Amino acid sequence: MFLTTGNCPIYFEKNGFDYLKSFLSEKASDRQIFILTDENCRRECLPLLEPIFDSFRVPQIITLPAGERFKTLESTSLVWEALLGAEARRNCLFINLGGGVITDLGGFAASVFKRGIPYLHIPTSLLAMVDASIGGKTGIDFKSQKNMLGTFSYPEAVFIWDGFLDTLPAGHRKSGMAEAYKHALIDNSGYWDFLKRGDLSFERIIFKSLEIKKKLADKDPKEKGERKKLNFGHTIAHSLEAYFLDKNAEIFHGNAVAAGIIVESYLSFKSGFLSQDCLNEIQSVIHSRFDPIDFPRTDIELLLTYMKQDKKNEKEGLNFTLLDCVGGAIINQRLDKALVGEGLQYYASLV
Ligand SMILES: NC(=O)c1ccc[n+]([C@@H]2O[C@H](COP(=O)([O-])OP(=O)(O)OC[C@H]3O[C@@H](n4cnc5c(N)ncnc54)[C@H](O)[C@@H]3O)[C@@H](O)[C@H]2O)c1
Repeated sequence: MFLTTGNCPIYFEKNGFDYLKSFLSEKASDRQIFILTDENCRRECLPLLEPIFDSFRVPQIITLPAGERFKTLESTSLVWEALLGAEARRNCLFINLGGGVITDLGGFAASVFKRGIPYLHIPTSLLAMVDASIGGKTGIDFKSQKNMLGTFSYPEAVFIWDGFLDTLPAGHRKSGMAEAYKHALIDNSGYWDFLKRGDLSFERIIFKSLEIKKKLADKDPKEKGERKKLNFGHTIAHSLEAYFLDKNAEIFHGNAVAAGIIVESYLSFKSGFLSQDCLNEIQSVIHSRFDPIDFPRTDIELLLTYMKQDKKNEKEGLNFTLLDCVGGAIINQRLDKALVGEGLQYYASLV
């Protein structure tokens, strides 16, 4: 085991899923097993796990189309229908095999079906390994708004194997790094210096990121205070994702977070918290490493209206987590719409 968060053990697999095998032998020999995955992970990842299930009840596979566009109530209903159709019992084991879309949606579906069935996460994308699969947040998008329906719920265990990254498309591998940069910026300047060097030792990156996410999630499981630091970059990111989802276009979550990091660093500077030198450094590192997101400046007002729906807003105004240095974040900063619009203008001028 590598660490535990919210009583959920996280295993880092090195040798052919040893931990998963012993978990299943101990806890699942006589249970119904369901695997939720998407079409890409079914093709690329599931075959690698099939030998493990030889000595267990043959799992029933539920496959969704891939992508954020399908992180919806309709897809979740399909999952519930499949479980009902297969007469899933409350003590079955539900396994989410995929990226952050599958771990979020599957965690949500499992956490409310029959008031909650036990589930595991086996993350297959970098983004899900460094962030989405841990910390106990589940959710789906609703009316294009990100993660509008969801629960706080932990899986029984998470099994991480970085070998899955061999088949992850390069664009998604790159996008997955955004959450790692975010972890560094909000919590650990040494980690930022390491990432800045461009070293892509995934094992080290996964360990370091999970340590930071675990620390913040354990201190504040229901996101009343310090955990909000993890929302840095996400107020902007979620409005960009909602804007593109409404156009039936999809951007990668990590690329939206990278844009959010740049805009929210600018807002941190303009609010007097972050130095100009830090802003310049963050902007040049992040801008050079992630695919830019292009939107017409005339749509900035529209992006601001999506932001008003953000579930992080508690009072009037838009709620942000900002940086006061590289490695330090401050939560609950209410900003004026005009300043946020200026931040989006700043980003648009870089693209
Ligand atoms: N719950 C949380 O705390 C949390 C945190 C961060 C992000 N998220 C959510 O995570 C989602 C983004 O996750 P993502 O970037 O993993 O997106 P994703 O799940 O859509 O995966 C990205 C793409 O890679 C494919 N894929 C995944 N693993 C693969 C593999 N090993 N080989 C080949 N193809 C593979 C998928 O089919 C998909 O097409 C967003 O919905 C975001 O809101 C949740």
